[in-house]
Amino acid sequence: MSAKPQGLESSSGNRPKVTVLSLAEKHRRGEPITMLTAYDYPTARAVDEAGIDAILVGDSLAMVVLGHPNTLAVTMEEMLHHARAVSRGARRPLLIGDMPFMSYQSDAGQAIRNAGRFLQEAGMEAVKLEGGRPVAETARNIVRAGIPVMGHVGLTPQSLNTLGGWRVQGRSAPSARALLDDALALEDAGCFALVLESVPERVAAHVTERLGIPTIGIGAGAGTSGQVLVLSDLLGLYDRFTPKFAKRYAELAPAMVGAAAAYRTEVEARQFPAREHTYAIPDEEWRGFLAATENAPTKLAKGTSR
Ligand code: KIV
Repeated sequence: MSAKPQGLESSSGNRPKVTVLSLAEKHRRGEPITMLTAYDYPTARAVDEAGIDAILVGDSLAMVVLGHPNTLAVTMEEMLHHARAVSRGARRPLLIGDMPFMSYQSDAGQAIRNAGRFLQEAGMEAVKLEGGRPVAETARNIVRAGIPVMGHVGLTPQSLNTLGGWRVQGRSAPSARALLDDALALEDAGCFALVLESVPERVAAHVTERLGIPTIGIGAGAGTSGQVLVLSDLLGLYDRFTPKFAKRYAELAPAMVGAAAAYRTEVEARQFPAREHTYAIPDEEWRGFLAATENAPTKLAKGTSR
């Protein structure tokens, strides 16, 4: 059963639905692929309306929406809850569910079942998982089950504790080589695209040239096949941790505080609600109401229950 509702018109006009195939064609034409994260109905609608190719319901949800210090705490149930809302808001972009920490690492059966839940219960059309050669077999098994997989190499936040922090990856010759081998293994496993996160520009461009599938960069420079940003970074809604690559296109946090403070000021000054925010009762009905209640007791006596 798909979680996608019937009757929601595409807010991005008549442009055709993005699929893994149309994404591959865009890549073949040499056109940059655009991806953004979204976490709920309004953000999904905005990203769809902006004409973005792919939406990732990222496990960055843990940090930028749920307030955790890193991505490790978010669960399958939480990811599915948000993915369902995204699929109700977006029609045209390819929808990708991010497999959270411990949803695919322990065994192949668990990985396939959890990947399947994103499609079956939340209206997603693909999944993403983190890691290189160690997860290549898992990716292959999920693809064999009919589920498109996006890989993710470089800085993989779910391995924060083994990486020793939020560090750029592939800065030495051996680690750049390891990164290339990871990327090639994921392509061989059948991934339709790869996220390259926090990788030196030259390394990311080289990996991109060596692959047939598109690379989607975040902190990986301009030589990748496409770009992804965390929506909350782009909107200026998250300031606990702002990486160098997170360009802000808006400052919504101060706008939110400003709007809430203006509301408070108007309520306290009895300026809100005004006439235009208020419902009226016709005069005749009002008089009838007053007449009917004229002799009625105005308040219940103390201690009387209804
Ligand atoms: O969870 C996320 O938002 C991601 C992107 C940074 C690619 O994985």
